[in-house]
Amino acid sequence: MSYQQPTHVLVTGSTGFIGAHVVDNLLARGISVRGATRSAKKGEQMKAARPQYAPKLDFVVVEDFTNIGVFDAAMEGIDAVIHVASPFFYDTTNNEQELILPAINGVKSILSASAKPGSKVRRIVLTSSFASVVDIDSNPPAGFTYTGTHWNPLTYETAIDPKSTSIVAYRGSKKFAELAAWDFVKTEKPQFDLVALCPPMVFGPVVHPVPNIDQLNESNAVLWSVAAGVDPLPGIRVPAWIDARDLAEAHVQALLRPEAGGKRFIPASPEPFSYEYAADIMKESFDWAKGSVTSNYKAGEKPHASYGVDGETVARELGVKYHTFKETVVDFVKQVKDTLA
Ligand SMILES: NC(=O)c1ccc[n+]([C@@H]2O[C@H](COP(=O)([O-])OP(=O)(O)OC[C@H]3O[C@@H](n4cnc5c(N)ncnc54)[C@H](OP(=O)(O)O)[C@@H]3O)[C@@H](O)[C@H]2O)c1
Repeated sequence: MSYQQPTHVLVTGSTGFIGAHVVDNLLARGISVRGATRSAKKGEQMKAARPQYAPKLDFVVVEDFTNIGVFDAAMEGIDAVIHVASPFFYDTTNNEQELILPAINGVKSILSASAKPGSKVRRIVLTSSFASVVDIDSNPPAGFTYTGTHWNPLTYETAIDPKSTSIVAYRGSKKFAELAAWDFVKTEKPQFDLVALCPPMVFGPVVHPVPNIDQLNESNAVLWSVAAGVDPLPGIRVPAWIDARDLAEAHVQALLRPEAGGKRFIPASPEPFSYEYAADIMKESFDWAKGSVTSNYKAGEKPHASYGVDGETVARELGVKYHTFKETVVDFVKQVKDTLA
């Protein structure tokens, strides 16, 4: 059967950092978008900022996406789904309730709505994460490269253990949510296929509503903290990244290209990054940054993370051309400095 190009796409997480870039990429191609959001206000702000797309953009409010059935009413006329939404924050008090179960149940909820009798959905693109790929505790041999065939070895028991950090729980949330999606397709045999994207750190300018600097998404917040001189930088990071605009392109190409169905990709720039490199770019590009960037940039990085990440497959099979790290840092830092700082 020939693959029907999508005309009306439901995007979850549409008012978040990555989701809003996906919305814009689809709209720019003339594809209609229905954004799912928890906030009617953010949906209205997104619409108001895109008057030229008014006839092709609407929003549905889904306050708690973890209840099966909540997406059913949003599926009218929808022929493809990009499921971006997932809890992504580290200040949790209950890892299983706040991160892991919402991520898994959100996937089950959108997939079961898409599989209902009469559904026209033919493909679902899922935003998973490099967190579901990388074995953070291993010390891979020289020359080792992570590909879409790798899975992090975390067990569910460790992920939900109250003694585990929220970073470990987030890794579990992405792994077990993605597994739930692949299991659903295998056991339910729905009329759609699945593509999973596993990006590492995502940076870049924002196109979603961000009322103030404290409400930047997690990954951009760390990049901004380099500019702002936060010392030490929070958390453990992976040494791979992608620009949000390139990641949006990967999502949309994963939707449009028939041959992508059933595959798992790592969209990642081939250029390694570090916060030290980011600090250098900031100092070189902005006079004001010379005195403010952090000098303790290594604090947030994991030592010895000397593995490769296969972003080439996405470049080759999905036709994505990656921004340079310098372009991404400059575009993001300039935007934040001019509009939020
Ligand atoms: N940024 C990165 O470095 C990175 C890297 C790898 C993977 N990812 C994945 O990319 C996706 C988007 O992340 P982001 O960076 O764009 O972060 P974000 O701006 O915080 O976006 C998260 C989105 O998920 C939605 N969401 C979270 N919990 C939800 C819940 N319980 N019910 C309904 N919606 C919920 C949020 O909805 P509202 O807008 O309504 O608040 C928001 O739109 C996530 O799946 C994340 O795991 C991100």
